[in-house]
Amino acid sequence: TLTTNDAYAKGALVLGSSLKQHRTTGKLVVLTTPQVSDSMRKVLETVFDEVLTVDVLDSGDSAHLTLMKRPELGVTLTKLHCWSLTQYSKCVFMDADTLALTNIDDLFEREELSAAPDPGWPDCFNSGVFVFQPSMETYSQLLQLASEQGSFDGGDQGLLNTYFSNWATTDIRKHLPFIYNLSSISIYSYLPAFQVFGANAKVVHFLGQIKPWNYTYDPHTKSVKSESHDPSMMHPEFLNLWWDTFSTQILPLFQHHGLVKDTHSYINVLSDLVYTLAFSCGFCRKEQVSGAMSHLLLGEVPAPPQPSVSSEERKERWEQGQADYMGADSFDNIKRKLDTYLQ
Ligand code: UDP
Ligand code: GLC
Ligand code: MN
Repeated sequence: TLTTNDAYAKGALVLGSSLKQHRTTGKLVVLTTPQVSDSMRKVLETVFDEVLTVDVLDSGDSAHLTLMKRPELGVTLTKLHCWSLTQYSKCVFMDADTLALTNIDDLFEREELSAAPDPGWPDCFNSGVFVFQPSMETYSQLLQLASEQGSFDGGDQGLLNTYFSNWATTDIRKHLPFIYNLSSISIYSYLPAFQVFGANAKVVHFLGQIKPWNYTYDPHTKSVKSESHDPSMMHPEFLNLWWDTFSTQILPLFQHHGLVKDTHSYINVLSDLVYTLAFSCGFCRKEQVSGAMSHLLLGEVPAPPQPSVSSEERKERWEQGQADYMGADSFDNIKRKLDTYLQ
């Protein structure tokens, strides 16, 4: 897989963890770029066999990317580096926003380039999951094609579909069944098919602008919160599974490597205690705490200390979701308060 930043790294970690959970026999490799933080890199090293650093390849093709309404996808050309992994004879690339639901090692029996149809244009393959064979020759031909012609969508998928242009017509064995790359958008674009075939899904792909890590998750109900008009909510079980994997397998690693600031340990370790005491002392409302907490960014740089304010004013700010997590309302202060209650 690939991640160019700490946000997509969360996806990569959940993906890696899901593959391990389903006992893959393959080696797990993640391509990263220098933008990924050192502490995130340490966590990636606990899940992946190899954490490699590569240069960012960015199409900078804002015209085509604007057509897709995804200006951020120019960097997906960085994916092309996977062809340079010649220490391996056969690989499966998986986007960082995919999740394995079962063992998929049988994919290694397929040849380059095997992929599932794109749900938006099924004569193109979707480049979120594909089987390939590393080769420096292919790698340099892809880079050459990118520099000479560019990519018709500004990202890797357009370029790869141009390079492997006979995919649609030549060899049906290279068409992966859709269950190996079930785009979450297909659940609502073809719900009846999902109801018949969805139970066989092997890989779910959270394709689209809003990724699982952008949702708010309530660890108590074990479900994501969302607006009712959000189509992903038609079948939230995949999102909930992503979050369950994240909170049970990945968050503890973040805590261990100091990536979770105090307030996050508080959510996961002391949440019940805090909520109970917070209720009993009228300190705050549970939904406000969890809502405000889940909007914090992991690995965020602490905000500068706020000037001191009265207890009343602090309470008011807290209730508006503006807690001073790194200062007066920090974990240490809350813990101290709890300790006095407990004693
Ligand atoms: N990616 C990344 N950083 C970015 C955007 C994308 O590392 O800023 C990688 C990541 O592996 C991601 C893949 O490129 O899964 C393709 O992007 P995305 O999944 O967002 O595209 P979509 O599948 O939604 O079209
Ligand atoms: C897609 C694919 C993604 C690819 C992007 C840019 O929709 O899902 O893997 O990176 O297009 O080409
Ligand atoms: Mn994707």
